[in-house]
Amino acid sequence: MSAEDSPAILPASPEGLVDLVNPFAPPAGPAAIVIFGVGGDLTRRKLLPAFHNLGSANLLGEGIAIVGVGRAEMTDEEFRARLREELKACSTGPDDGRVTEKLARSARCVSGTFEDRGTYERLALVLARLEKDAGTGGNVLFYLATAPEFFAPIVDRLGAAGLTTETEGRWRRVVVEKPFGSDLDSARELNRHLLQTLDEDQIWRIDHYLGKETVQNLLVFRFGNGMFEPIWNRRYIDNVQITVAESLGVEARGGYYETAGALRDMVPNHLLQLLSLVAMEPPTSFEARSVREEKSKVLRAIQPLSPERVLTHAVRGQYGAGPTRAGASAAYRNEPKVARNSAIETFAAMKLAVENWRWADVPFYLRTGKRLARRVSEIAIQFKRPPLLLFRDTPVDHLSRNVLVIRMQPEEGISLRFGAKIPGPTVRIGNVAMDFRYEAAFGVRPSTGYETLLYDAIRGDATLFQRADMIEAGWSVVQPVLEVWKALPPHAFPNYASGSWGPKEADELLERDGRRWRRIEE
Ligand code: BG6
Repeated sequence: MSAEDSPAILPASPEGLVDLVNPFAPPAGPAAIVIFGVGGDLTRRKLLPAFHNLGSANLLGEGIAIVGVGRAEMTDEEFRARLREELKACSTGPDDGRVTEKLARSARCVSGTFEDRGTYERLALVLARLEKDAGTGGNVLFYLATAPEFFAPIVDRLGAAGLTTETEGRWRRVVVEKPFGSDLDSARELNRHLLQTLDEDQIWRIDHYLGKETVQNLLVFRFGNGMFEPIWNRRYIDNVQITVAESLGVEARGGYYETAGALRDMVPNHLLQLLSLVAMEPPTSFEARSVREEKSKVLRAIQPLSPERVLTHAVRGQYGAGPTRAGASAAYRNEPKVARNSAIETFAAMKLAVENWRWADVPFYLRTGKRLARRVSEIAIQFKRPPLLLFRDTPVDHLSRNVLVIRMQPEEGISLRFGAKIPGPTVRIGNVAMDFRYEAAFGVRPSTGYETLLYDAIRGDATLFQRADMIEAGWSVVQPVLEVWKALPPHAFPNYASGSWGPKEADELLERDGRRWRRIEE
């Protein structure tokens, strides 16, 4: 088949849906999926629905068996009953029970604490039995859906029980959730620790932002089209704005958030992943090694902020009470499990410089926060203004920048904003947009963002996972900010109202450069 004939755009199915992943993709497996923290939120809200969605799209092959490890005492039968219930609840479409049954039938449960050696001895027996009875091939994906303090102890004990050893073609991989460390030193220490037991290619550091369809599309958009790459540089681009705004507050996660804050929670991982995809050089192939190498180079090209620069280039905020779309909402300090005088930031913004030939002098503005005016994640590429000279004898006294907006959520899509003449006898310019919406073009399948990542981890494709050096490069960027903010506690918290776009200092960060944040329509 020639490239021209190849199914670059997947045909819509009769219901107007496009298959979750390329229909030519082979099903994943065989493998046992061992979930540590099977009783937790992440398993219920993301992992089980993702497995269900993969199963519905026929992307789970034979020999897939889920093993839950958790503290609660449960028999296999009780675990299967619970799984059936939860999987049924995940099913958003007409479910004939096929997927639920397939996943529940071979599921096993290992009850015990993560510290107890006995837990791992029992796990070893279960895995050996599944290899025979369920045909898992002896392959195991260990998923650490636990609090971060358990990552190292679990891996130590898996190693001591011989469960991470790869023999005769049986692979063993460990998926590590975020947060990976809480600063540069602890991330380095965790990498060092895990590498005592595992090889680098057995460690799958996950960032669920990379599972989002539009985020993956960034590579195709930039490198699979002829028209964008030639202008994707400092000659044509004035600045890049990355916004990950949430309308929700911390909800029930006050305990965790009090030790993390917006900067740690979102910037070294999600926001810098977005930045690296926007700014990376073209890789030589879509292979994991070349893509990760280029992303890593960008992260290393980000100029670390000096302590003086932190004062002028980074902004923090904490939400107070305020009116939101959902009604009046409380201040962060009044949320459950939050100190009444908390100095934790719920908003962070910064200006970064990527010091390489492509991006020198193009500022990258990042902002993220909770309880902002609306939930939106987007990257806005703002192009340089054209000269005004041509319009000198017209009513036009100002030309807007062209903006390319890549929207991750909600309404995933891409939109190009440009000026067009308003009909009439005089020259007047209006701003218009050309829009591409994922849903309208391709239809949507229910997706949690974890489907592709789980599928890739089982299939052994590490492109969307983080190498040790990438994690450390991300922390290196935020480390100076963490240090300065720790040394100088904030004195004016709360400094933005719930339902607003954050503290005024975030606006001033751009105003000082003669720019402003792209106005996100309400
Ligand atoms: C998580 C953070 O990693 O990402 C949360 O810990 C945040 O605080 C979430 O709410 C945002 O993810 P999404 O996919 O809803 O944008």
